[in-house]
Amino acid sequence: MSLQGKHILLGVSGGIAAYKSAELIRLLVKHGAQVRVVMTHSATQFITPLTLATLSQHPVGLDGEDLDEPMRHIDWARWADVVLLAPATAQRIALMAHGFASDLLSTLCLAAECPVVVCPAMNQAMWSNPATQANVARLEGYGVAIIGPEAGEQACGEIGAGRLLTLTEIVVQLTAHLNSAEQCLAGKKVMITAGPTIEAIDPVRFLSNHSSGKMGYALAQAAYSAGAEVTLVSGPVAMSAPAGVTLVSVHSAEQMFNAVQASVQQMDIFIGCAAVADYRPESVQSQKIKKSPEVMTIQLTPTIDILASLNDLPTKPFAVGFAAETQNIKDYALGKLEAKKCDLIMANHVGIEGTGFGSDDNAVTVLGHDLQIELPKQSKTMLARAMISIIADTYKQRKL
Ligand code: C5P
Repeated sequence: MSLQGKHILLGVSGGIAAYKSAELIRLLVKHGAQVRVVMTHSATQFITPLTLATLSQHPVGLDGEDLDEPMRHIDWARWADVVLLAPATAQRIALMAHGFASDLLSTLCLAAECPVVVCPAMNQAMWSNPATQANVARLEGYGVAIIGPEAGEQACGEIGAGRLLTLTEIVVQLTAHLNSAEQCLAGKKVMITAGPTIEAIDPVRFLSNHSSGKMGYALAQAAYSAGAEVTLVSGPVAMSAPAGVTLVSVHSAEQMFNAVQASVQQMDIFIGCAAVADYRPESVQSQKIKKSPEVMTIQLTPTIDILASLNDLPTKPFAVGFAAETQNIKDYALGKLEAKKCDLIMANHVGIEGTGFGSDDNAVTVLGHDLQIELPKQSKTMLARAMISIIADTYKQRKL
């Protein structure tokens, strides 16, 4: 993941999570970024400017110390490729949402024309307060990206949503946001399969699975937002395709295979997110099967593996597979990476409460030939952005 050469202006405001900003700076620098820090007055009560100046290798911007550089808020805003507020307190979010220019950091946020990313951290009741939620929605409406918070045990002893997202996840999401803002897939053709397939038994019955299509549709949206031309080959789901995406609707695995084969050769990237049936009834009865007291056997025959079939193409797109496993996920997923000759595999553990089929959240391990990135439980929308960013970075490295 690359933040190489990026100018990151880190705004630190005064919550207990301010102490984590020291480690965050180290991580950002490790990923190749240049970091300048602006601290609010209350942040300096939690961690010293000297610590952050030493780690960022730049003087820290503080209130009331800019008399020798009166245009600092403009100069630093111009310098930044992104303004990252981590941690952002409820007060900071409220100030930003209402356009205050009452200290160096708020003035700088107003002056910034680059992307602004906010990582909230506060007590769970403060986070869920309608006033904070309205401020967050307002900021999102202004194009500010909100990353986190996550749920868990808080410094105050309470449990709930409000913790600063883990630092590695901040880096993943920040990279994803910048990649998307920079249209990392501009000019690229991406095909995504999504949803379940349904395999007819007779005119009224079929075999299928629990896939809702949410992950594949979120990927289609994220790829489109990152500038790609997206073809979404989808089994039957209860959602409409994201605007701007070309939808090809199918029912069976065979139809999905044919739809993929029809244009996959023109694609740069293929993402097999569909839960394709592995078997279909050997023969489809032309009339409805009559109920009888006898035990019934339906003979099943394997379907074609769409992802693996890409290996038969003269020119194969960059291929991303999914592995939904209930046990030994890493081993099985790595086996699949080799067996299907994918470039990347997104491995997820089905059966963890609140993730996977039908739910709005998911957690995956991204596995490549020399890459392993954990994406912890989060919304499928956020997860899709992170996946697209990692796919784009890996695709570009492979092309180099
Ligand atoms: O082998 P398994 O079905 O677990 O592999 C899952 C991956 O393979 C997913 O990316 C899925 O979309 C793809 N797949 C496929 N065609 C099939 C079965 C799976 O493209 N018939």
